[in-house]
Amino acid sequence: MHPNIGFFIIFTFYINYCDCRKYYNYTLYRGIPVEDAHLKFFMNLTKMYDVNFWREPGLLYKPVDFVVSPEVKPVFLKEANNLGLYLTTMIVDVQKAFDMQTVKTYIRRKMDSFDWYSYYRTEDIYQWLRDLAKAHPSEMELHSIGRTYENRDIMSVRILLKGSKNRSRVIVEGGIHAREWIAPAFVTYFIHQIIKAPSSNNMVLKEIALTYEWFFIPILNPDGYEFSHVEDRLWRKNRHDGRFGVDLNRNFDHAFGTVGVKFNKQSEIYCGPYAFSERESNSMANFIMSKREALEYYFAFHSYGQYMIIPYANNKYHEDNFDEVKNMCNDAKTKIAQRFNTQYTVGTAYDTVGYVTSGVSGCWVKRRLRVPYVVTFELRDNGFHGFALPPNKILPTCQETMDGVLSLLSPRRDKFTELRVTDSARPAFVMDKIVIFFNTFLFIIVWFD
Ligand SMILES: *[C@@H]1O[C@H](CO)[C@@H](O)[C@H](O)[C@H]1NC(C)=O
Ligand SMILES: *[C@@H]1O[C@H](CO)[C@@H](O)[C@H](O)[C@H]1NC(C)=O
Ligand SMILES: [Zn+2]
Repeated sequence: MHPNIGFFIIFTFYINYCDCRKYYNYTLYRGIPVEDAHLKFFMNLTKMYDVNFWREPGLLYKPVDFVVSPEVKPVFLKEANNLGLYLTTMIVDVQKAFDMQTVKTYIRRKMDSFDWYSYYRTEDIYQWLRDLAKAHPSEMELHSIGRTYENRDIMSVRILLKGSKNRSRVIVEGGIHAREWIAPAFVTYFIHQIIKAPSSNNMVLKEIALTYEWFFIPILNPDGYEFSHVEDRLWRKNRHDGRFGVDLNRNFDHAFGTVGVKFNKQSEIYCGPYAFSERESNSMANFIMSKREALEYYFAFHSYGQYMIIPYANNKYHEDNFDEVKNMCNDAKTKIAQRFNTQYTVGTAYDTVGYVTSGVSGCWVKRRLRVPYVVTFELRDNGFHGFALPPNKILPTCQETMDGVLSLLSPRRDKFTELRVTDSARPAFVMDKIVIFFNTFLFIIVWFD
């Protein structure tokens, strides 16, 4: 017996200190390019001044957010001024803003030590999920879908409530980008809402929770997430090779390596050597494939910018059921605004953030598995805090996002209409056939050798 153990763990402590890289006097600027020379200047910024982009340059008039170190600030500002560029200072001292982001420890078996007023590390989130699953043994399960380079589990949560219609499946992805801390925080909130729905007074939530079979991957990139806590708050990629890492949301097998990526390892948008070269993306793809039957919804959560992004990210066109999904997103946008007046923008990547990109998880899911409703969220905010979103904004962000998600999930039909293989999807289909043909051919050669 250890009667005194309770004494030692009754306090909750906050960790604000870390050994990591500090960003004192680093400044977050926003610039709006209004002519081509400005855009060229922005595209050049990493090379010239080693800036860290929070929002990459895309089209004219789309804001570009980036952090400049105190060392290069004077020469950078002089150059910007020469070009007639108008800059807004968003955060004077980025480190001070990061220091406000409290990280709390979850106390085992003490469920109320987990809340949405602080951020949490990976192991705390996983322990909370284990305890939640233990409290709901017949409705919630945890599984590892694979392991990372630093040997962490990528945990998935499955929820199927008692009495559920089990009509179709929903997969929810969070934390593919390490520094976007609000994304895993929202996915934990989503899980909590669904598992507690049967005892909720919210009839809409209850009905929706009892309609689907749910799968959540709250932290798809746990190595990167941990790195952003203990080494570098601005880390985005995974930790393959312990040095450069790969942008996992450029590593999926949809238009891989074609647009909006770099093959340079140092780049923040390094897509990796080939599609699914990374353990995290590969494990996720295998997991999604294993749940492909009756998979109706796929949501991915990122920050920031307040966008609902509809596939496909690699071109400017509206394909498949874009108009149907856009209407659904516009309804969700209205619902989100009703709570705290948070304004979202809906469209493709090109329509919203203003650039095209490739190898994106949701695009692969929609094209490869013909999942009809795929939406990527860029959560709060609009750049006022950016990745330094303060803890008192976590809960409101979760509440309004849940309103939007429930709107998207409103079961309007008895059964969802499956996406046909469209003309634009056909080339890939034909390629599959050609590959099968050549594989058969090779097999025959080997067979007769
Ligand atoms: C940040 O800048 C201020 C004003 O220039 C200076 O007093 C302070 O020492 C700087 N802080 C660090 C950590 O460099
Ligand atoms: C872009 O960078 C190159 C050097 O890397 C420099 O010569 C050129 O002037 C830069 N262009 C702009 C618009 O700043
Ligand atoms: Zn992201």
